[in-house]
Amino acid sequence: MKVKYRLRKYSRKQLLFAVLDTVICGAVAVFAAMVKFYLTGDAIIANFALCVIYALILTSAFYGGLLMFIMLSRSFIIKNNRYYRSFIVAMTFVFIFHLFISLISPLLMAPGLTATLIVQLSRKKQDSFVFNLIETCMAMSVLLYESIMTDGEVFMLIGGGENSANLHLWLLIVISVIGVSVGAFIPVALRDNTGRLHSVVVGLLVTAASVVLYVLMSLAYPDIPLVLSYFWLVIISGFVPIILSQFCVPVLEKVFGLVTDNRLIELTDTRQPLLMRLAAEAPGTYNHSLAVANFAEMCANAIGEDPYFARAAAYYHDVGKLSNPFYFSENQAGYNPHDDILPEVSAEIIRKHTTEGYKLCREYGLPEEIAAVTVQHHGTLPMVVFYERAKRLTDGEVDIDDYSYHGTCPTSRIAAIIMICDSSEAAIRAMDRPDGERVDRLLRGIISDRISRGQFDNCSISLKELDIIRRTIISAYGGLFHTRIKYPGGEKQ
Ligand SMILES: [Fe+2]
Ligand SMILES: [Fe+2]
Repeated sequence: MKVKYRLRKYSRKQLLFAVLDTVICGAVAVFAAMVKFYLTGDAIIANFALCVIYALILTSAFYGGLLMFIMLSRSFIIKNNRYYRSFIVAMTFVFIFHLFISLISPLLMAPGLTATLIVQLSRKKQDSFVFNLIETCMAMSVLLYESIMTDGEVFMLIGGGENSANLHLWLLIVISVIGVSVGAFIPVALRDNTGRLHSVVVGLLVTAASVVLYVLMSLAYPDIPLVLSYFWLVIISGFVPIILSQFCVPVLEKVFGLVTDNRLIELTDTRQPLLMRLAAEAPGTYNHSLAVANFAEMCANAIGEDPYFARAAAYYHDVGKLSNPFYFSENQAGYNPHDDILPEVSAEIIRKHTTEGYKLCREYGLPEEIAAVTVQHHGTLPMVVFYERAKRLTDGEVDIDDYSYHGTCPTSRIAAIIMICDSSEAAIRAMDRPDGERVDRLLRGIISDRISRGQFDNCSISLKELDIIRRTIISAYGGLFHTRIKYPGGEKQ
């Protein structure tokens, strides 16, 4: 029942794409494995039926199992199919790389390469671990199958007997365990620390693992002379995941349009063309966006959401104001053009900044997820000032819908955070003397107003998280709106 319920969360199209991607990648992996068997001997010809059975097991057990696991536990990447597609393509690429690199030497496998790639493509550590685990198991099962086919010693290998066969199985298990362990370490090491030195540490660790494998290999096969001339390859093989990921990640990001941490860090560089335009043409909005970003980042951290994404979304949430910067109070210096126009015209100009923002974001090549926040950060809230003014002008005969935003309500917890931080920043800034108690009252009012207007109905944010967000803003506002001590000369220091 629970499984059915979880699968029902997806549309037919999402399920179809996920299955199709899995089948295509599975077929490519099987084809690559067959080519490898063909290249390593004539076993494929003698055992074609076994080979087909193996191919079916490989696709159904590994790819099918992976698909089911991801469907039941990671709805985000199935719903956003391009993520699942990029992960499974990366995993299949590494699997093929793994297969053919072992033609040169099984030691030159790249343990943890899937983990290194996926940890940079996904925002969840467990994704890289799970995909690397499956990839390592697949690669090891191919090596095992290959040894069975070439030795013809199936039962001896599994049930014991000749020493050499047992050693081979033992070695494969050790390689798998080291590959999976390295794959478990990499997400922890790389995910929370983007320092370049961390990549070097990961490279050194994988090198150490490769050296251990090299020594074990030489113990397992004492008859085979140590290929010392290959030792330098073993040493550099540790850096293969790091070097390869530098090439592969940007390509996968671009091809599949992914929002990765690296991409988000790029987007928060203040030299980004759209941000430079915002700073030059709407400096008030630019400063407001930076302040919202500080709040949003802290709130995201506090409820376990992605702080990079929150910061980037906050930077761009109001770029639509570039169409008419002086119609927004933060960019005005005394004169307010709304005083000279009808409230319905004012409402139309203000409302437009959400949709204009979306268009601008897409025009500048920003990811869909960031652009979506621009149309969600005001949801369907009313523009109370213009509504009240219109009521005064028309004796109360006014439809509130004409004075409301026509966007969509937040569909993610980050968009909900931006909605709250945006209103809170503006309201706290407008207060004469913001103190803890008044700010607390203000924030409670903002949050309960949005709840009562159903603004959080499309996202999975809980009341507990909304409370954490409120408390985070209270603890942060003092640092953002601090006042300076007045010195005798009258100037603040
Ligand atoms: Fe806005
Ligand atoms: Fe704003």
